Amino acid sequence: MKIKKLFLGLVAAVALPVAAQSELPLIPLPAHVETGDGVFHFQKKTVTAVDAYPGDSLQWVLDQFGEKFTQASGYKLVKGKAKKAALRLQLDPSLPAEGYKLDVKEKQVVVTASRPVGFFYALQTLQQLLPSRAVLAGTVENEATEWTLPVVSIADEPRFGWRGFMLDEGRHFYGKEEIMKILDVMAAYKLNRFHWHLTEDQGWRIEIKKYPKLTEVGAWRNSKVLGWGDVKPDGQRYGGFYTQDDAREIVKYARDRFIEIVPEVDIPGHSQAAVAAYPEFLSCDPQNPHEVWLWQGVSADVINVSHPQAVQFAKDVIDELTDIFPFGYLHLGGDECPTSKWEQNADCQQLLKQIGSQNYRDLQINFYRQLQDHIARKPAAQQRRLIFWNEVLHGNTAPLGKDITIMAWVGADGAARDAAQRGLTTILSPQIPYYINRRQSTLETEPRSQGHGTETVEVVYNYVPMKDIPADLQPRYMGVQANFWTEWVEDAQTVQYLTFPRLAAVAEAGWTPQSLRKYPNFLQRLQAESDYYEKKGVDYGKHVFK
Ligand code: ACM
Repeated sequence: MKIKKLFLGLVAAVALPVAAQSELPLIPLPAHVETGDGVFHFQKKTVTAVDAYPGDSLQWVLDQFGEKFTQASGYKLVKGKAKKAALRLQLDPSLPAEGYKLDVKEKQVVVTASRPVGFFYALQTLQQLLPSRAVLAGTVENEATEWTLPVVSIADEPRFGWRGFMLDEGRHFYGKEEIMKILDVMAAYKLNRFHWHLTEDQGWRIEIKKYPKLTEVGAWRNSKVLGWGDVKPDGQRYGGFYTQDDAREIVKYARDRFIEIVPEVDIPGHSQAAVAAYPEFLSCDPQNPHEVWLWQGVSADVINVSHPQAVQFAKDVIDELTDIFPFGYLHLGGDECPTSKWEQNADCQQLLKQIGSQNYRDLQINFYRQLQDHIARKPAAQQRRLIFWNEVLHGNTAPLGKDITIMAWVGADGAARDAAQRGLTTILSPQIPYYINRRQSTLETEPRSQGHGTETVEVVYNYVPMKDIPADLQPRYMGVQANFWTEWVEDAQTVQYLTFPRLAAVAEAGWTPQSLRKYPNFLQRLQAESDYYEKKGVDYGKHVFK
């Protein structure tokens, strides 16, 4: 077999033109690829063999692929002896946790990894190498198709451990099926964190059994559209929420795709929906009327952090979230929290004196510290690491210790560096250009959204994470995340349109070595994705497809 080296190492990169990379429509681009001549043909019954692994989970990973493969192609995977297997899943404990090798020869395909997730990612890559995206999309292929793979040798692992996508469902509620579709596409792009922004001034979306009014009252508002500029609230009763059973179903769906869910309850700011549900202890001015917010922007109606019942409320909410979401991280928000209500409240003024500060932001930190202490007293399986938006850096974060993570969005590069210099870990989700709810073009067909159309696929792609960061700080950079805020986006189809294909660009920043990332090359590989989006039934920005 003649192996043609594909320039994915430094030396080879100089030797071959960039266009040659388009031969393989892979996103994210793997760390090392060597293409060869010839193809592997799947047989009507392809013999497979899988190494033993606790819980039979490697077999499970293969079976998940097998089901979709059979549905799309009518071909079957059958179990056989390792020696005779055309498709082998082989353990190699020396490979990195999410890494894998995929070695396609004319007679045999060997997948190697150290953990189920590595095999899962190898099979995502394999699915992108197939002649149709029907397998990846989970549909039936109607065109006559020869089910082959090109001969290739891939050795792959991610650049960053955190490759995320955030969806704001506080402003609008899209429902389970929509989330599951997004999780499917995330998995195809090897994204591994779904940050679920579940609460806002405009809606509380997760059932909390101890506080039923959070969803009886807080999940509903009297307008579908959010008022801003010329747009006026429409008076329509509107909302929705996830029951805990719904959330658990989504947790399982995500886990099956090796995605961790990072639930966010944004407190004590962005909390007017909660305040409207329980003003008697959450509000700084319970004597006044409170309603779920109908407007865009930042509400000043924040939680009264000096009220002992408000602190208890937050602890109780955390207890239920910990129970529903069995993952390592919990996001408590912390962005855009006006302190004006605290400044006018005698109890808050007194608490500020008591903690020896003159900076009202420190009341927020003091609130978080009590929640952190509460979590620290839980059993090991319920420990959670806290994430905050980067505004908490405006206070003294020392009381929260070093075991917190800063999600950097506003002035993201500087904020992330500040966090890293304080010894904290950080995640890059720069508002510009990673807020992919913003318009992605200046086309007249672009839906109403924020921005001027300058956050194009190319601009998103070309953001360089962790640029010029000294080596000693780099380990504190956990990775990248695209965020989708929904003030302007009422329907799921527009969420999809704005998300894709820009999410693919962010996924590649999270996975692929920076030295290999070139936009023209990405654009070529991207062309195959329209087949995927069409078959998957997700809308997408079509103007970047030829
Ligand atoms: C944010 O965009 N307010 C985190």
